Amino acid sequence: MDNPEVIIDLKSVSFGYDGNQSQRPVLHALNFRVRRGDRVGLIGPNGSGKTTLFHLLMGLLQPTQGEIVVFGKKRQHEKDFREVREKIGLLFQDSDDQLFCPTVAEDVAFGPLNLGKSQEEALEITRQLLRSLALEEFENRLTYKLSGGEKRLISLATVLAMKPEVLVLDEPTTGLDEDTVERLIQILTSSNLTYVIASHNRDFLSKTTDIFYHLGGGKVERRPNISAIRQVC
Ligand SMILES: Nc1ncnc2c1ncn2[C@@H]1O[C@H](COP(=O)(O)OP(=O)(O)O)[C@@H](O)[C@H]1O
Ligand SMILES: [Mg+2]
Repeated sequence: MDNPEVIIDLKSVSFGYDGNQSQRPVLHALNFRVRRGDRVGLIGPNGSGKTTLFHLLMGLLQPTQGEIVVFGKKRQHEKDFREVREKIGLLFQDSDDQLFCPTVAEDVAFGPLNLGKSQEEALEITRQLLRSLALEEFENRLTYKLSGGEKRLISLATVLAMKPEVLVLDEPTTGLDEDTVERLIQILTSSNLTYVIASHNRDFLSKTTDIFYHLGGGKVERRPNISAIRQVC
């Protein structure tokens, strides 16, 4: 496609946690665009606002100024973000924000059930997905007893279970061993999903993404390649 559809368009978005514009906002008149098929890496130091940007995109925070346009529609109110959350899967930076059911199977089935699938359909989706991620032995495990890396993978499974069109992954490799990072690279690069990944892991980003943005001073700037982003992360 010559001009792929813009699916995420943040227009001059500003945000500060105190809501007080006399303080320097976390994000300041930020513009950020993602087209269908883009594989975007977002790099920025701790505290630069990567997580904040993702939460604004999903409607978990409201901008103090600017517009959030997703799938061609301006999103402002809670009801506007329902479609966004169905089609864009956010992997939270903290897995404990993602997993809230007693067992892995219940957590993975939660999204499909919420989308109106029957118990049987949700269980089938859950089993298929856990199998495809080589996580089938986790089905009946208690979520709170999993290691950090295991929680990361199960969190990813809960996101994929919704069959999103777009993935937004907030530091997905945290706590993952090398083999599991390799598996995640395989999953991402063999998918035809549009995705945005915030990560400090440059090797992972260089293997999974080809459009790079630096977040700093409240703005994102596109860089031609990952080595053009110099900072200690
Ligand atoms: N809930 C919150 N209340 C107040 N300040 C916050 C909150 N969450 C994050 N911040 C602040 O906003 C800034 C951006 O945070 P964050 O988006 O988490 O950055 P990053 O994900 O890039 O590390 C930081 O200065 C952080 O301390
Ligand atoms: Mg963060």
